[in-house]
Amino acid sequence: MTFVQVDAWLRLAALAPSPLNTQPWRFRVTPSHIELWSDPARGLPVADPAGRERTIACGCALLNLRAAGAASGCDETVEPLPDPASPDLLARVRLAEGPADAALAALAPAIERRRSTRRALEHEPLPAGLLEALAAEAAAEGAELLPVDGRAAREALADLVAEADRRLHHDPAWRREQARWIHPGRTADGLPASRLGGRALRFLVGHFDFGGTSAGRDEVFVLHAPAVVLLGTPGDEPLDWLRAGQALERVLLRAALHDIHAGYLQGPLQLPDLRERLAGAFTPGRMTQVCLRLGRPVEPPGPRRRRPVAEFAEFVPA
Ligand SMILES: Cc1cc2nc3c(=O)[nH]c(=O)nc-3n(C[C@H](O)[C@H](O)[C@H](O)COP(=O)(O)O)c2cc1C
Repeated sequence: MTFVQVDAWLRLAALAPSPLNTQPWRFRVTPSHIELWSDPARGLPVADPAGRERTIACGCALLNLRAAGAASGCDETVEPLPDPASPDLLARVRLAEGPADAALAALAPAIERRRSTRRALEHEPLPAGLLEALAAEAAAEGAELLPVDGRAAREALADLVAEADRRLHHDPAWRREQARWIHPGRTADGLPASRLGGRALRFLVGHFDFGGTSAGRDEVFVLHAPAVVLLGTPGDEPLDWLRAGQALERVLLRAALHDIHAGYLQGPLQLPDLRERLAGAFTPGRMTQVCLRLGRPVEPPGPRRRRPVAEFAEFVPA
């Protein structure tokens, strides 16, 4: 592993998605391996008290690192959660010249193409066979991808998403937390403010209950998306979340190769009672980790925001 190579891999790792673009990861690079750490200082204690979504985001970054390494012709050894005394140390990765995982390497070109969307999606259906291919990507990481098909199922999900929107937006602590990441002072992380201008949007999100507006918009999104999918895992422990993150990123990268991108419908997963209802109705025997709508966004995404590698990586000399 040369410095230049690792620097390039970490830049690609950090293109992973994360809730509110918090980028909640740190990397520690030693001469023999790369450690991935969760960064609790970049967590969302109100929306994500257990750090579940933070770990999922780190899992996405881990998958990017593995794919980037494979595309450079490296064989990978990944030790998940290697030290029970350090729960924030999520993985220890060794990348060395050797037989690379061809399926992972094939996903690497999509790392820079993948984007999330908060806008509407075109109505055209997904390319034939793509949903099955996405399910296979999730299965390769030990997770299950289940489509939500049919009018009745979409309506039931839309009701849960709308109820979550109303309840979350009604909570002043949740609104304040969201507003902290939609801040005009942020340019390398957080979410961009809309046309309203940063200060105004931040004030509005922090002070007013937009639950009704979001609920109406998300209901339409659920009912009309070309595909809606749920990602489930057998358990609900940090190892399951790390797996879910890697499965999620595999799904997103494979979709991005076809110019298909995802919008997130995470509201019901942030409220324990709704999460249980969602799992009971749609992923029985599994815990639901992520809920996505998939399709071709009607508008191109805005500029991407990421912190430079030096801000989240530490290089430990020999
Ligand atoms: C676990 C997880 C949860 C997310 N939740 C939401 C969400 O609730 N709403 C949303 O619009 N985007 C959500 N996102 C997407 C992020 O907003 C997005 O990744 C971030 O803004 C960076 O943009 P990019 O994905 O286009 O690079 C989530 C991403 C992850 C990994």
